[in-house]
Amino acid sequence: MDRARVAILVSGRGSNMAALLYAARATDCPYEVALVTGDKPDAAGLAVAEAEKVPVKRLDSKALGKGYWEALQSALEAAAVDFIALAGFMKILPADFVARWSGQIVNIHPSLLPKYKGLHTHQTAIDNGDAKTGATVHVVTPEVDSGEILGQVEVAIMPGDNAESLEARVLIAEHQLYPKILAEYVSRPFDARWIEAKIDSLAGGFAEVGRKTSHGSPGWSVGAEKSGKLFAIIADRHHGEDAVGLLVKASGPDEMAGLIEAQPDVYYWPKYYGASGWLGIKLNRRDVDWDQVADWLERSWRACAPKRLARMMDIADEF
Ligand code: GRF
Repeated sequence: MDRARVAILVSGRGSNMAALLYAARATDCPYEVALVTGDKPDAAGLAVAEAEKVPVKRLDSKALGKGYWEALQSALEAAAVDFIALAGFMKILPADFVARWSGQIVNIHPSLLPKYKGLHTHQTAIDNGDAKTGATVHVVTPEVDSGEILGQVEVAIMPGDNAESLEARVLIAEHQLYPKILAEYVSRPFDARWIEAKIDSLAGGFAEVGRKTSHGSPGWSVGAEKSGKLFAIIADRHHGEDAVGLLVKASGPDEMAGLIEAQPDVYYWPKYYGASGWLGIKLNRRDVDWDQVADWLERSWRACAPKRLARMMDIADEF
């Protein structure tokens, strides 16, 4: 698997950036730091990244004004990054920027979200008499500190703690959490169990779907429990193949051959299954088009569904 290329955005001292950077030095780390940038050209974190010979882009959001987000976008594209990790980045991302990088931006926040979004989290936790606080790594969505929670770590609040002493301890916990969760997140597309859960949620949207196995592989069937027909199967690196593939029913060998020739990175002829009309869609890639996968699932579902169900879908489509 290629290492994911990550850009880290900082506004200040960059201790989380350093934690991510040093974790990336382990040979088995699934990400590499392709760029460190931010909004303040004199942020202390940028100097650390430079000393560590990581590509740094000094951007000044004050000087750039409205052009800042375009300049940032260009820097990210030039560095060909797959993910963005916010690490003490103090600017709120505009909705169109978040949309461009949907699902590819993560952040670390110093509280146990959904508790205490925004600033002054440590003082608030102390003032509320909480016994514990912590840190959260989450996916960034347009609403601040609200995206899917990817991981959390708890930190006890000790008698006599003030915001400063608590922050210092939470920061140690942050440095353990962030690299681990980022590594897991960038590896998700290659994890057969994550892929299976994703297909399961898409397949669950059609009528009369059940789970079945095909020679031990997870599959989805349509129709009554006993007579249900398989319309999708996950083949996890079958018979030496390198694909974690979704097998769906194509119209026949001609269509399959055409697709495989046109997009060999996406489609393949699965061993044994290919002969009975199953087309392989390679899913252990970073650039899976999930809308396209959903379309294939629907097509395959229709091809395998009993006539009465397919008719129902046709009628529904007319509305
Ligand atoms: C951390 O507490 C982080 O949780 C929050 O901002 C702070 C950044 O600190 N988002 P550093 O710049 O990583 O040292």
